[in-house]
Amino acid sequence: MIMAKFSDIKGFVFDLDGVITDTSVFHSQAWHQVADKVGAPWSKELEDGLKGISRMDSLEMILKAGNLQDHYTDDQKVDLATEKNTNYLKLVDKMTPANILPGIKEFLDEIKDGGYLLSLASASKNAPTVLEKLQLTNYFPKIVDPKTLSKGKPDPEIYLKGAELINLKPEQCIGVEDAAAGVESINAAGETSIGIGDKTILKDADVNFTDTSEMTLANIKEQMD
Ligand code: BG6
Ligand code: MG
Repeated sequence: MIMAKFSDIKGFVFDLDGVITDTSVFHSQAWHQVADKVGAPWSKELEDGLKGISRMDSLEMILKAGNLQDHYTDDQKVDLATEKNTNYLKLVDKMTPANILPGIKEFLDEIKDGGYLLSLASASKNAPTVLEKLQLTNYFPKIVDPKTLSKGKPDPEIYLKGAELINLKPEQCIGVEDAAAGVESINAAGETSIGIGDKTILKDADVNFTDTSEMTLANIKEQMD
C-alpha cells in the first residue's frame, strides 16, 4: 500500500543488479555453475528466489534445494562462494556502459536534474566495481556498505540505511528493485516500492514497470497519485 504522495518524495534508493544493469544474469550464470558442481537442482523458482540475496545466503539456498546443507564444512562453503565470485568477476570484467539497462541513464539524469537525492542499496560487495565499469560512479556518492549489515534483504535494514545516508525519512524515499526480497525490504522500511519485471513475482510493489525503459518521473507520479 502506498503511504506517500509523489510530492512527498525527495530521494531514490536504488538496487543495482537487475535494475541499473543486467548483472542479475551474470549472478545466475555463476550460481548455476555452482549448483551443477554440487549436484543441486536448478530451477526458475530458485533463480528468482536468489535475486537480492547475499552471497553466503544464496549458497545456502542452493545447497538447501539439493538437501545438501550439511554436506559441506564452513570452509568448503567459503571456497564455493569464492569460486562463484571469481567466475562472476570474469563476467563483470567484460562490462562496459553498454550494459546499463534501457532508460536508466536518462532516469538518473532526470532524478539529478529534478534535485532528488540518490543512494545505492545493493547487497553486492562488488557494487563499486560494477558502477566503475558502467561509468556511473559519480551518480552514487552514497552507497550502503553490505559489510555493515546484520541482516540482508528482505530485512528492511539496507533500505533504512539507504535513506539515512541521504538524510531522508523512509517515507520521503522511493526504493527501486527487481527482486521480491528487495520489494519486501523496501516495504518493511516504509518506503514506496517500485518493482521492475514480472508483476506476478513483484506483486507487493507499490508501482510496477515491466521494463526499466518505462521508469520516468511522470510514469511514477501517474501510478502514485
Ligand atoms: C545482489 C544480487 O544484488 O547481490 C544477488 O541480486 C547477489 O544475486 C548479491 O548474490 C550479493 O552479491 P556479491 O557480488 O556480493 O556476491
Ligand atoms: Mg536486484
